[in-house]
Amino acid sequence: MSQRIGILTAGGDSPGLNAAIRGVGKAAQGVHGMQVIGFRDGFRGLVENRAIELAGGVLSGILTVGGTILGTSRDKPHKMRVGGKTQDMTEVIVENYQANHLDALVCLGGGGTQKNALVLKEKGLNVITMPKTIDNDVGLTDVTFGFDTALGIATDAIDRLHSTAHSHHRIVVVEVMGHRAGWLALGAGIAGGADVILLPEMPYSLEKVAAAITDRVKRGKNFSIVAVAEGAMSHEDALIVRAIEERIVAAEAAGDRKARKQAKLELKEIEAGAGDHTLHLARQLEEMTGLESRPTILGHLQRGGTPSAADRLLATRLGTACAEFIAEREFGVMVAARGESAVPVALEEVAGNKKLVPPDHPWVESAQHVGVCLGF
Ligand code: F6P
Repeated sequence: MSQRIGILTAGGDSPGLNAAIRGVGKAAQGVHGMQVIGFRDGFRGLVENRAIELAGGVLSGILTVGGTILGTSRDKPHKMRVGGKTQDMTEVIVENYQANHLDALVCLGGGGTQKNALVLKEKGLNVITMPKTIDNDVGLTDVTFGFDTALGIATDAIDRLHSTAHSHHRIVVVEVMGHRAGWLALGAGIAGGADVILLPEMPYSLEKVAAAITDRVKRGKNFSIVAVAEGAMSHEDALIVRAIEERIVAAEAAGDRKARKQAKLELKEIEAGAGDHTLHLARQLEEMTGLESRPTILGHLQRGGTPSAADRLLATRLGTACAEFIAEREFGVMVAARGESAVPVALEEVAGNKKLVPPDHPWVESAQHVGVCLGF
């Protein structure tokens, strides 16, 4: 009997998701003779059993389309808002998996999705994942699909900001996405020729940033581009965040759920203030340097639209490899990009394994060697 697989896309959408759905789906159907269905809106669609057949022409014409034809959500199987309450819906997912006669469930997502897939693996489901996110922060894979497209968009934006910053003799502080990882800001900052790049992994000194800009003015360059990752922090703010994180660890160790919730809330508020942080930074730099400053928040523009050729290629080769692994009954793994190959990595190793920019990464050194100020 032919195998039957389900596919869902979870977490923030990312260019290349449709290419990945198409890659797994076409290879599963055409090469391995499998039946393929999709679930709408991530894990919520699986809970609500909102399935669609991915047969006929459904997988055609989607390679170049942004977003995801399945829809997505940030819902977690074990902590889902249902009927006004947060509930563990994993048993319902197991029931629907069985009711749909699935041999495997393919979950396309970022760091959160790897953790959620592990929860389902532990419930005995045959899960297999692929690494998707513009943040490029999933461990044990060379790269995630979506990153290359977002890198291109952010670089193009920085290019365009140059001419207006130059003409008005201004500082432009441009905020780049990436959650708590600096890959996108660093990559786009280098490719776009930013003068200052601020990353979450390396807390910055405001004085050093202002001094770098003033120094440029002394050299006759009275404009500057500051690429700031949305999670970047000053030394002072980094200390506050570290103290909250220590409180979370202590509350977890003590089993104090109330204290943990409170600390997590404080952390969320700080993250939500990223946009305000960028406006504030622009204002502070204006005061300290005497140059007029403008903030620009690129936001969701970075996730929208047509995937780049590199992302289409990556998503297609991981997708077809994923179908191959399913045929070989290799489950409980993420299909990771390793050089030109796609390799299976156990979900236990991937879940919670966030890939951040290490201080000794070659990109960091290259940035410094072309005179970029990293704020320290
Ligand atoms: O994970 C992708 C990402 O775009 C991050 O860079 C960003 O912090 C977050 O998602 C934004 O999430 P949302 O679209 O839910 O506001």
